[in-house]
Amino acid sequence: MELEKEKEKILREIKEAKNLKELEESFKEVQNKIKTFTQKLKKISLPQRKKLGKEINELKEKLEKEYLVKKEILKEKERKKEEFFDITIPPKKIEIGSLHPITLVKNKVEEVFQSLGFEIVLGPEIEDEWHNFDALNIPSDHPARDILSLGKTFYLENKKLMRTQTSSVQIRYMEKHNPPLKIVVPGKVFRKDAIDATHEIEFWQTEGLMVDKGISVANFKEIMEEFLRKFFEKEMKIRLRPSYFPFTEPSFEVDISCVICGGSGCQTCKNTGWIEAGGAGMVHPQVFRNCKIDPKEWQGFAFGMGLTRLAMLKYKIPDIRYFNSGDLRFLKQF
Ligand code: PHE
Repeated sequence: MELEKEKEKILREIKEAKNLKELEESFKEVQNKIKTFTQKLKKISLPQRKKLGKEINELKEKLEKEYLVKKEILKEKERKKEEFFDITIPPKKIEIGSLHPITLVKNKVEEVFQSLGFEIVLGPEIEDEWHNFDALNIPSDHPARDILSLGKTFYLENKKLMRTQTSSVQIRYMEKHNPPLKIVVPGKVFRKDAIDATHEIEFWQTEGLMVDKGISVANFKEIMEEFLRKFFEKEMKIRLRPSYFPFTEPSFEVDISCVICGGSGCQTCKNTGWIEAGGAGMVHPQVFRNCKIDPKEWQGFAFGMGLTRLAMLKYKIPDIRYFNSGDLRFLKQF
């Protein structure tokens, strides 16, 4: 009989529904089919009608039961799918940072000078006029404040300032310690400058100070050459040019042989074969006196190197603005 044949199909459709939407659709379809059978009832004889009517009712009941069971199963399945947690998916990569090139260079500078017997000392970035200027023999009306770019000072409301040079730490250290002294001071300095490829308002220097008996420029040259050789891991030449700083006498600019071209001349050294690495000189007697050290008894040299400059030379970084950019494409290279 027709219903017999349809029955199997109808039940299978309900059982095989893959999701709630499919189940609802099949159930509606199935109900329509049953309706067509019900409509047939009117056209057949009483005994047949009784038999078919009973069969239809049984099928309806069975269908509804199947429908409800299947609905619960599918609901549960969909709930589980939402909660599904796949433990086989590989975990998100943990990003591990790298050291900033300035940190790498600072570490290396500290390591080399420590191996030469220097102590690493730090000082405050917010300074007073005494340590940044006056004790270094730079009175406020002295033109050297401008000549040395030290007039480009950021002053704070409380009369303090952002230090323009790490030389301030020479004073801080000599005020508290008696010679002999051998210190190196890496640190940030601040100057009001227009920012471009070679100027930043915030950059790094390394100060050095050695005070002992019978110290001369020869000691400085030797220490500097040794440092550069270890820092750049190759033989380096240095050249001292007469210069002027109020806190050293005599004073000089320290040039190093160009690390890019080796001295034959290139764009970086402007075809001179030399690169300016910093300033230096013999500690001025007045600076010693300001720190209550007797200049007749003690002599010393001081130097200030551009640590940011060294980083640019060591890693061949063409633009100073990369350092503070926070650009990961730059930082990930180190
Ligand atoms: N402080 C000087 C500068 O910033 C450098 C320097 C340091 C010169 C120590 C001589 C001695 O230019």
